[in-house]
Amino acid sequence: MTTRQDAAREAAALSEQLRRHAHLYYVLDEPELPDAEYDRLFQRLQALEAEFPELRTPDSPTQRVGGKALDGFVKVQHKVPMLSIRTETDISAEGATLFDARIRKELGLGETDPPVAYTAELKFDGLAINLRYVDGLLVQAATRGDGEVGEDVTHNVRLVRDVPVQLPGDAPPILEVRGEVYMRRKDFEQLNETQRRRIEKGVKGEKTFVNPRNAAAGAIRQLDPSIARRRPLSFFTYGLGEVTPAEQGGPRFDSQMQTLQTLKSWGFPVAEQTRTCAGGDELARFHREVGALRDALPYEIDGVVYKVDSLELQRRLGFVSREPRWAVAHKYPAQEQLTEVLAIEVQVGRTGKLTPVAKLAPVFVGGVTVTNATLHNEDETRRKDVRVGDTVIVRRAGDVIPEVVGVLPESAARPEAERGPVFTMPHQCPVCGSDALREEGEVDYRCTGGLFCAAQRKEAILHFAARRALDIEGLGDKLVEQLVDADLIRTLPDLYKLGFTTLAGLDRMADKSANNIVDALEASKKTTLPRFLFGLGIRHVGESTAKDLAKHFGKLDAIMDASEEQLLEVNDVGPVVATSLRTFFDQPHNREVVEQLRACGVHWAESEPAARAPRPLAGKTFVITGTLPTLGRDEAKEKLEEAGAKVAGSVSKKTDYVVAGAEAGSKLDKARDLGVAVIDEARMLEILAQGLS
Ligand code: IVH
Repeated sequence: MTTRQDAAREAAALSEQLRRHAHLYYVLDEPELPDAEYDRLFQRLQALEAEFPELRTPDSPTQRVGGKALDGFVKVQHKVPMLSIRTETDISAEGATLFDARIRKELGLGETDPPVAYTAELKFDGLAINLRYVDGLLVQAATRGDGEVGEDVTHNVRLVRDVPVQLPGDAPPILEVRGEVYMRRKDFEQLNETQRRRIEKGVKGEKTFVNPRNAAAGAIRQLDPSIARRRPLSFFTYGLGEVTPAEQGGPRFDSQMQTLQTLKSWGFPVAEQTRTCAGGDELARFHREVGALRDALPYEIDGVVYKVDSLELQRRLGFVSREPRWAVAHKYPAQEQLTEVLAIEVQVGRTGKLTPVAKLAPVFVGGVTVTNATLHNEDETRRKDVRVGDTVIVRRAGDVIPEVVGVLPESAARPEAERGPVFTMPHQCPVCGSDALREEGEVDYRCTGGLFCAAQRKEAILHFAARRALDIEGLGDKLVEQLVDADLIRTLPDLYKLGFTTLAGLDRMADKSANNIVDALEASKKTTLPRFLFGLGIRHVGESTAKDLAKHFGKLDAIMDASEEQLLEVNDVGPVVATSLRTFFDQPHNREVVEQLRACGVHWAESEPAARAPRPLAGKTFVITGTLPTLGRDEAKEKLEEAGAKVAGSVSKKTDYVVAGAEAGSKLDKARDLGVAVIDEARMLEILAQGLS
């Protein structure tokens, strides 16, 4: 049990830590801790204060809104304070029903009363801003600061694309619009890419940003607008500040949803996911649905926000210590966490690229347990100065592979003797021992062992067997690993020498599976030239380049013997691809691989070079949607492209045909709306056989 004395000591330590980190976060835009870690400290202090209420002093970090205005900015006194919202601690969908239950209780509603209407919104991860319009003109933009006094950042907010500077005529004389300035993922990645290049060039004082929130906050709170200008920002609105009252001719707002719709009509961006929900179950569904969509959004959110929709009910519910009772933030699993680096290993990829990977103490981040995180390359590892034993921030956002974003400053500040050695990339491949070289102007080291290197062999085989290449069903990770480790496969042609007996003799391999693989190998022999070319895993030759090459040359021998000049004549083939192809086919062992594969029976139909091949569907655009009765989607796409058609991913006015199969969804609806011709697979095959008539 915690004694009062222990609790007081711990609360004092937590308060000090929280104050320091709040300053780093809100004032300096340079947080050291992941949000989740900060939240943990905050919740611990809240728990102590709940147990020992006398510890809850007015200046406790739990009783104040984060920031404080930064020196150097003109201070702005908010006409209506900018508050923060309570966070629901239960991150499961249950949190939504808990909130609803609290609201119903506060409103004195019984079981038979109808559900409460809520507005469910996204919780954008950016910086809160108050925009003040007088007579329809943007006159001031301010940060939240401590909620009472913020900073004037008008000069930078004017640069935000979707903040209107002038409103339509029906806007009231005084209007304050609140919302979040944020940075889209794409813009963030591009910005960091630029920053890395500037750092490489030796530009002083430049740094990369840990996450989009930081980049956005840093850009807005820049005294020099020329710096802010380089950082593309966006905006979403979620509420109001001061507004001309209805009695003085201002608008009459009755609900949050109506407010947002009106703001939208005045040109303010409102997230399309915003929805009205009746009762807790619908809020929980919203939480689940947005959670499933989270990674696919073009920007980051850290949760959703529920607000009682009726402004009248909001007034009745009121506030508890500066937080509205009528709203709650319901979070998702954090995308950044702290953990320890147990080791730094070097992995070898298919093309021989060496990547340093941090082995981590398992940590739950972005919804999964992570034990590996990429350090990208030698320069990045050294720039971040990541060492074994360090406590680091790991980030996993979206489908992106987890990465180490940086070392916790406290950890980095330990005496040199207590830290692991500075990372250096080995100059030999850790898998095969061949030389690993870093080419001039490149950041990556590559193993020079080629197919001699087991790591590259495994990856090369997996690539060859992949669905978009030779499509050898059942030849997955585990099996390839077994085959390469047992030295049963050294080069690609060895695959076709595997018989039933060898396969069935492997550990954990049932006769039936062995049979299936033999069949799959046999079936894969009949392929197409683009698949074969792509399957060889030539650096820089992706699926579409392989298609272009096949179309242009028609025959493999023509490609193998083409000079760089001839290769450059192909659509989209530049010097890098041309050199890579030449280098690949200049190696006798690669030609040998091709010959042996052909000798094993791998074959495809060769055609005449492009100019003479018939392209009856040239200039036509198709979209495929739903499940077709006999063809896989890739197969159908391939057939159409062979006939010269373009196959697009979405329906537009330019689409000529939509090929619809079972369970076709929104694309079919859109085609109907736009009056685009919809055909089935049978008609598509007819067109392919006979052309358009
Ligand atoms: S409403 C009185 N709605 O989250 C309610 N806030 O602590 C005021 N945020 O700093 C906030 N998305 O910047 C609200 N849809 C949303 C939001 C949102 C993000 C931020 C806001 C505030 C913090 C809440």
